[in-house]
Amino acid sequence: MTEEIKIPAEFPRGSDVAGKRVVITGAGRGLGRLLAHAFSQAGAQVSLVARTETDLKTVAAEIPGESLVFSGDVTDAYFNDSVADAVVAEWGGLDVWICNAGISPIVAGPCATDPAVWRQILEVNLTGAFLGARAAARVMTSGGRLIFTGSVLGERPHEGLSAYGASKAGLVGLAKGLALDLALSDITVNVVAPGWFDSPLAETWKATPARAERVLAHTPQGRWGAAADLPAAYQFLASDASAFITGTVVNVDGGYLLK
Ligand SMILES: NC(=O)c1ccc[n+]([C@@H]2O[C@H](COP(=O)([O-])OP(=O)(O)OC[C@H]3O[C@@H](n4cnc5c(N)ncnc54)[C@H](OP(=O)(O)O)[C@@H]3O)[C@@H](O)[C@H]2O)c1
Repeated sequence: MTEEIKIPAEFPRGSDVAGKRVVITGAGRGLGRLLAHAFSQAGAQVSLVARTETDLKTVAAEIPGESLVFSGDVTDAYFNDSVADAVVAEWGGLDVWICNAGISPIVAGPCATDPAVWRQILEVNLTGAFLGARAAARVMTSGGRLIFTGSVLGERPHEGLSAYGASKAGLVGLAKGLALDLALSDITVNVVAPGWFDSPLAETWKATPARAERVLAHTPQGRWGAAADLPAAYQFLASDASAFITGTVVNVDGGYLLK
């Protein structure tokens, strides 16, 4: 007789992040601010990271519950380590680190792309995520969750955004490699790849009618991502329910990658 699956008394809930100690980088505005609201509303303790302290303090004042604010640059290894150490000192541990800080300063072909700008994009979007993951993994002594904010543009190219696309494609490779390296430490590493969302970063696209039309034409659901569309993917990957999911990409894109 085959043995039946043992049914647990209670299943972990896919959105349950209550009590989790969470670091969110790029939390001063846009999608990071959105995640700070969603996680704190769900009962998590959140630490907010970005360079502009006034933005972080504004977000901290908006959200419910306890939060910490760390202003600094994610490209600085020492800064990332000091955030991880401070969270552990303050809250006794660290459960989730969301590497969300990112930039996309130009739309230009290769010849018009200043090498310094290329380096800056890779430095913030990719190296910054590595340094955050490294700092977090160092203190996640009883397991944890690393979540990177990727982009559909890391999976499909877009004219003028090759540096940004390369940085986001690199994040997928980084997540898979780290997932392997950290598997036995019970640390999962995954990417959430948003499609086109309303945020300060996307403003230039919305402001240019031809670009905005193209976004909608390529998004089968025919609309921009809204605030309620995104956080659940992060919360699932941060919850106990996703313990066996690592090295994956969750696209939250209204079907953008389908066509
Ligand atoms: N909006 C979209 O449609 C969309 C789609 C796909 C992916 N994404 C990704 O989502 C993430 C957030 O984007 P967003 O749209 O919310 O952008 P945003 O509104 O420009 O916010 C970016 C955040 O990152 C912080 N940041 C930038 N450089 C930093 C650095 N070196 N060190 C620390 N913090 C830094 C910014 O604060 P400071 O400038 O004060 O440091 C800000 O809080 C990015 O990784 C982006 O690539 C966005």
